[in-house]
Amino acid sequence: MKIMGIVGSPRRDGTTYTIVEKLLNSEEEQKHEYEIHRLNSLNINPCQACYYCKENDGCDLDDDMVNLYKELYDSDLIVIGSPIYFGEVTSQTKLFIDRLYGLYNNKKREFKDKKVLLIYTYANSDENTYNNYIENQKKYLYDFVGFKIIETIKLHGIAEKKDYLNNKELIEKLETIKTNLINL
Ligand SMILES: Cc1cc2nc3c(=O)[nH]c(=O)nc-3n(C[C@H](O)[C@H](O)[C@H](O)COP(=O)(O)O)c2cc1C
Repeated sequence: MKIMGIVGSPRRDGTTYTIVEKLLNSEEEQKHEYEIHRLNSLNINPCQACYYCKENDGCDLDDDMVNLYKELYDSDLIVIGSPIYFGEVTSQTKLFIDRLYGLYNNKKREFKDKKVLLIYTYANSDENTYNNYIENQKKYLYDFVGFKIIETIKLHGIAEKKDYLNNKELIEKLETIKTNLINL
């Protein structure tokens, strides 16, 4: 199985990166290959609404999204992790999501039922605070791109990585999800 990890945090070694890495990096027998992309280190421009993608395959912008499109096609599972900033995903993540518009218009609909796992990290101690926002985002990712969201992980009460490292319950929850991932 080929897995693509997307991290929308500007922190190179923050909670989101740590969690995505932990989920994908299996100490057990490697049953899958994976690559993690830090969006903050990539050159991804905002969608220009030129609608090139309505007439052609892909996007007219020549930036790092070109390689990500290729990998999106090739991957069996896509893991997208973002911190919550002001109640939404980070700007880096939003740029990436908007550029998925090129896939929405893909005539072949090759992304239909592509498996996707979403991870949100946030400081708020109430896990359900961003439910409406998250459900709405999931709906758009399904309706527009065809992504099949197989799991949504909401890691609440985490301002710093130590909040995650000290939270046994969260670590156990992730271990269970990781086991399920390996057996996918
Ligand atoms: C600019 C900014 C805005 C934030 N806004 C929120 C917010 O609206 N709600 C919340 O619960 N946490 C908020 N946070 C906290 C982050 O979501 C939290 O620290 C997250 O775990 C950071 O993940 P990272 O270590 O991967 O960057 C904000 C942090 C920053 C820097």
